[in-house]
Amino acid sequence: MAPTPEQRPGEDQMGDGLTVELRPIAEEELARFAVVEGTGFGLIPSPGEIEVERSVLELDRTIAAFDDGEMVATTTAFGFDMTVPGGGTVPVAGVSGVAVAATHRRRGILRSIMDLQLDDVARRGEPMAILNASEAAIYGRFGYGAASFWQSWTVDTRTARFRDPVDDALALRIVPQREAGEVLPTIYDAWRAGRPGALTHSDAWWRCVLADRMTWRGGGRLFVVVCPPEPGPDGGPGGGHAGGYAIYRIDNRGRSGAWRLIVRDVVAADDRVTARLWRYLLEVDLVSEVEAEAAPLDDPLRWLLTDVRAVQTTAVHDYLFVRLLDVAGALEARRYPIAGRLVVEVHDPFRSAGAGCYELEVADDGTARCRRVVDPGSSPVDVTLDVAELGSLYLGGVSARELARAGRILGRTPGAVERATALFDWPLAPFCVTRF
Ligand SMILES: CC(C)(COP(=O)(O)OP(=O)(O)OC[C@H]1O[C@@H](n2cnc3c(N)ncnc32)[C@H](O)[C@@H]1OP(=O)(O)O)[C@@H](O)C(=O)NCCC(=O)NCCS
Repeated sequence: MAPTPEQRPGEDQMGDGLTVELRPIAEEELARFAVVEGTGFGLIPSPGEIEVERSVLELDRTIAAFDDGEMVATTTAFGFDMTVPGGGTVPVAGVSGVAVAATHRRRGILRSIMDLQLDDVARRGEPMAILNASEAAIYGRFGYGAASFWQSWTVDTRTARFRDPVDDALALRIVPQREAGEVLPTIYDAWRAGRPGALTHSDAWWRCVLADRMTWRGGGRLFVVVCPPEPGPDGGPGGGHAGGYAIYRIDNRGRSGAWRLIVRDVVAADDRVTARLWRYLLEVDLVSEVEAEAAPLDDPLRWLLTDVRAVQTTAVHDYLFVRLLDVAGALEARRYPIAGRLVVEVHDPFRSAGAGCYELEVADDGTARCRRVVDPGSSPVDVTLDVAELGSLYLGGVSARELARAGRILGRTPGAVERATALFDWPLAPFCVTRF
C-alpha cells in the first residue's frame, strides 16, 4: 500500500480512517506479542511456552501492528531451507503467527502486513514464502497456492495384519525425550534430503519440537521410538539404512485394551524402516486404535497390510502454501522428470514485480533454465496462470491438468496443459512434518 504524503514511514492507512504503525517488535514486547498472537487462536500462552517461542523467533522478522500504541496484530517468519523436487534446497520464509485482534478485524490490517512482509522476504533474496493456513480461503489473494497435503487415518489394530514379513533385524529403541535431540536430527536430515516440502531444523527448533508444547500435543506426553541408522551396504536383514523414528502419544482415558495411540510423525528415508516403525506402532499393547494425524499422501501403510480397509482416511488437509517471489530463480532450483519447453504467462494481482512471461527449458538431466521473456510476441504463451497456481504446482504434488479442469490454468497452445502436467509432476508427494 503506497503511503499518503501525510503518513509517517511505517504507518499504514486503512480504508476507514484507521492508521496503524507496522514494525518489528523489540525484545521487551515479546510477551505481549505472544499474547496477541495466542488470543487470535483462542489461547493464552504460558511463560514457559513464550520462552520456547523466543528461542526460535527472529525479532527482525516479526511484524506487529499498533493502533495508537496498542499492539493489535502480529506475524513473523522463520528462515528455513526447503527441499524441492530433485533434492536441492531453497531458502524460504516460513510465515507464521498471523493474527489480527478481533476488535480490528476486516479493516485491511492483514493485507498491509502481507504487503510489508513480502517486501521483506524479497529484500532478503528468498525466492519464496511458505505458510500453513488456519483457513484455506485467506491467502490465495496474496499469491499463496496450496502445494502440499496430508491425510489423517484411523487404523483398527485388531484387523491390521502385515501382508509380508517385516524385517525384525531392524532394532528399535524407545528414547527418552531428553536424549531424542541427539539422535533425531541425523535421521531427519537423511529423510529431508529427498522429500519435497521438508524443512531444515535448527538446534533451537529441535528443542522446540521436543518441548512438547501444550498447543502441539493436545494432552498426553510424547514418546519417541527410534530405529538407529546402520552404516554399511544395503542388502541382508537389517542391512545399511539411514534410520527412522516415530513420535507418538497415548490417550489412555478409555478402559485398558481400548486405548488410542496417536502418531505425530513417522520419519524414515528407507521403506523397510518405515514398515518396521508402523508394525511397532500397530502392536503396542493395550491399544485398539491407532490414529495418524498427518501422513503423507503416498505413505505405503495401506499396501503393507492384507486388508486395505484397515486404514481409514478420515481427512485430507492442505498444509504448505507456496508464494513465489522470484519465479525464474524458483523454477530453476527444482528438477523436472522429463525434458521439455514451456512458456508460462504469470499473473500476480497482489505484487506486480514478478508478473510476466517466463520460458522454462528443461534439459535431459532434469535441470532447467528459466528466463523472463522480454518480447512476449517472440514466444507464444503455452499456459496462463496466477502466481498462486504456479505455487501449487511448484512442489510437484498438484496436477496442472486438475487445475486446468477447474479453470485455474488456461492452455494456450495444443498439448500445453499435458506438457505442463508432465513437467511439474514429481514421483514423491511433497510433505512437511514441521509445525510452524
Ligand atoms: C484471518 C485474519 C488474520 C484476517 O485479518 P484481517 O485484518 O481481518 O484481514 P483483512 O481485513 O486485511 O482482509 C484482507 C482480505 O482477506 C479477506 N479475509 C480475511 N479473513 C478471511 C477469512 N478468514 N476467510 C476468507 N477471507 C478472509 C478479507 O475479506 C479481505 O479480502 P479483500 O481484500 O479481497 O476484500 C484474522 O481474522 C485473524 O486473526 N483470525 C484468527 C487467527 C487466524 O486464523 N489467523 C490466520 C492464521 S494462518
